Amino acid sequence: MKYELENIRLMLVDDEEDFRSAIGRRMSKRGLNPDYAGSGEECLSFLENREMHVIVMDVKMPGINGLETLNIVKEKYPRTEVILLTGNSATCDGVKGIKAGAFDYLAKPIELDHLISKIKQAYEKTLREEEKKKNAELKVQMEQQMIVTERLASLGTLSTGVAHEINNPLAIIKESAGFMRLVLNKEEMKDIPRKEHLEKALDKIEIGVNRAKRITHQLLGFVKKQEPVCSEINIEELVKETIELIAKNARDKGIVFVCDMESSGIIWSDAYQIRQVLLNLLTNAIHAIDTKGGAITILLQDTETGVCLIVKDTGKGIPKENYSKIFEPFFTTKPPDMGTGLGLYVTRGIIEKLGGTIEVESKVGHGTSFIIKLPESNEIKENKDENKNIFSQILDKIKGD
Ligand SMILES: Nc1ncnc2c1ncn2[C@@H]1O[C@H](COP(=O)(O)OP(=O)(O)OP(=O)(O)O)[C@@H](O)[C@H]1O
Ligand SMILES: [Mg+2]
Repeated sequence: MKYELENIRLMLVDDEEDFRSAIGRRMSKRGLNPDYAGSGEECLSFLENREMHVIVMDVKMPGINGLETLNIVKEKYPRTEVILLTGNSATCDGVKGIKAGAFDYLAKPIELDHLISKIKQAYEKTLREEEKKKNAELKVQMEQQMIVTERLASLGTLSTGVAHEINNPLAIIKESAGFMRLVLNKEEMKDIPRKEHLEKALDKIEIGVNRAKRITHQLLGFVKKQEPVCSEINIEELVKETIELIAKNARDKGIVFVCDMESSGIIWSDAYQIRQVLLNLLTNAIHAIDTKGGAITILLQDTETGVCLIVKDTGKGIPKENYSKIFEPFFTTKPPDMGTGLGLYVTRGIIEKLGGTIEVESKVGHGTSFIIKLPESNEIKENKDENKNIFSQILDKIKGD
């Protein structure tokens, strides 16, 4: 194990000041940098501000003795290793110490080389424990990630499959509702009882069908357009076109658009899909701003490998606990007629397929920024099988079926 001795946070605890400083001086010459305490109490209050890797502590001290201090240290700071120093005739103290969790005990008078080698062994033990802990945490993290990935994969497969299946019956319902409305509007139906109720029921059917169609449209639009059709595109133009599409909705809410394009964003990518991404992000930004108005800023900059597009709003923001959820399918905080919860799921799928990344930064009450980085050309991504993201895998699976 390679490390510098000066990195060991070491403390010498002994009530004999002469002993402390003599040992400390000799240790410093060997590259160790100990802190000192003259009693168990002093040691414990020191630890509250700075944890130690190794403590070398005399057993016999006035006040709380070494064994009692050891018990408290082990309870509060289980990662700290303690080496006890016992009087020559008090080996039973050492044995008690080992039982209480001390790393080792040495009888006074001590031999410096021996003590230093024990300190190193104790420190190496703390390093191993630390490594073990990190590995265990990493394992838990990876397991959680796997669960999320698997859930998304099965949800994705299921939802795209369901979308396919549902489209036909939806069309039949919509057509039949239209036919019923036509019949209801005929002269001979003018005075039928509860005509109003029937009309209201038809309205509800139409609203429901439209919502279901929006869901299938998002999902199937993504499935159909799975393979990017690339050409040279100008993101600045795409932004302007998309803003025009939604300008009316924004105007109604008193929202202004600010475009700060340092680059025109000419890249080799898929215009249709980038437009869908812009539409999703801008619609979200409009929804996030309340009726008092606000601003949506679109920034476009060149990066070393392509372009960076930022869509920033002055809306209500996203609480931290929702950061990981917003890209999941069907996560929405909007009422049923406003959102399906698919916009960002689809958006991230597209961006990753195009070889880019999407990140979110937000502050509740202040606004949100979505930061998209796209490569100048996504050929490399397309050719590299191992880079395929979860969405392409889902789509491949569907294609294979
Ligand atoms: N700019 C934003 N400001 C605040 N919250 C946002 C913003 N963009 C997304 N969100 C949150 O993320 C959720 C998911 O967004 P997403 O676009 O995936 O679905 P949606 O907008 O609810 O529905 P739709 O499928 O119609 O887009 C939203 O319901 C909202 O809570
Ligand atoms: Mg949305």
